[in-house]
Amino acid sequence: MSEILTIADLKDLARRKVPKMFFDYADSGAWTESTYRANEEDFGKIKFRQRVLVDMSNRSLESTMIGQKVAMPVALAPTGLTGMQHADGEMLAAQAAEAFGVPFTLSTMSICSIEDVASVTKNPFWFQLYVMRDKDFVFNLIDRAKAAKCSALVLTLDLQILGQRHKDIRNGLSAPPKLTLKNMLDMAIRPRWCMGMAGTQRRTFRNIVGHAKGVGDLSSLSSWTSEQFDPQLSWKDVAWIKERWGGKLILKGILDKEDALKAAETGADAIVVSNHGGRQLDGAASSISVLEEIADTVGDRIEVHMDGGIRSGQDVLKALCLGAKGTYIGRPFLYGLGAMGKEGVTKALEIIYKEMDITLALCGKRLVTDVSKDLLRR
Ligand SMILES: Cc1cc2nc3c(=O)[nH]c(=O)nc-3n(C[C@H](O)[C@H](O)[C@H](O)COP(=O)(O)O)c2cc1C
Repeated sequence: MSEILTIADLKDLARRKVPKMFFDYADSGAWTESTYRANEEDFGKIKFRQRVLVDMSNRSLESTMIGQKVAMPVALAPTGLTGMQHADGEMLAAQAAEAFGVPFTLSTMSICSIEDVASVTKNPFWFQLYVMRDKDFVFNLIDRAKAAKCSALVLTLDLQILGQRHKDIRNGLSAPPKLTLKNMLDMAIRPRWCMGMAGTQRRTFRNIVGHAKGVGDLSSLSSWTSEQFDPQLSWKDVAWIKERWGGKLILKGILDKEDALKAAETGADAIVVSNHGGRQLDGAASSISVLEEIADTVGDRIEVHMDGGIRSGQDVLKALCLGAKGTYIGRPFLYGLGAMGKEGVTKALEIIYKEMDITLALCGKRLVTDVSKDLLRR
């Protein structure tokens, strides 16, 4: 490929560089994938107002998310198994985000551990928590995130039970991959990925192995995770998690205004309007289609963020216009990582930055913090 100009270019390259099992893991939604598709498609239905002859000099995309300064209001979303898109993926993505000046969020289900990421970054990153039945493990995870000086805890609310993604079942997804003939052939044609993996020790869920009771090896890990997500998690649990954590708290996975109102009552610092990238409830609304209603309902009480389907700087701007103070990208940075490692994550951020900057100017604005519904044709 001659030049990488779009997130779609990074996706094409990642498809060639990353073993099918892990590329598919990123590029999949639950069941029919209708919500996964709608997340992207619904952005296309929103149109900007073109404005002319306004001063476009001295533009800035700088903003804040939960009070933290960001080079642009785009954080890297927590994604599981990121270290399988590229060796040491979470460490590389965190470094790229740090250099760019945007937040990186480490997933509970990451390959590199909290401590691994802390060892290669100077600025605090964010940690995403899944609440497991094993509460000692959860207490310990929160304490480890505190010890690593994470500056926000992102509590995911929409995965008490796992949505079914057909591709993962068909591919026999596991980390590390099982050495079947099919997998070995698939990996053999991706020598760079294999060399990277051969050169790192980080090939399984390092936040969990060695920390959770009864998880010493990989075979017990798969049964542990399938049994461990807590189906009884409730709004009451948010209170003890908030208290134990004691820092900035973000509630991720809100898609309904009734839930947004409950979330605002918890005293959390922000919510993320999200359907988990279309990976949980297939048939749920796209994130962008419900953002405005939710922001109008609770935006004066709690900071509203959104994710799902952002593939360009234009998409980010549309979300900001409809009431989001910040956004997150999942697949765009994963494709960058799979395509070109750390450089690819930087490339994804640069593409989005440039698209946002030009769009802002052509809509007649200089500051990203100045945008509102006014920029959109209604
Ligand atoms: C491969 C993959 C793994 C994910 N793993 C997690 C996770 O471990 N925790 C979590 O809260 N969200 C997870 N998500 C959801 C993302 O945080 C985010 O909500 C979603 O990716 C946003 O949509 P986008 O990929 O279209 O940007 C994952 C998403 C993807 C694509």
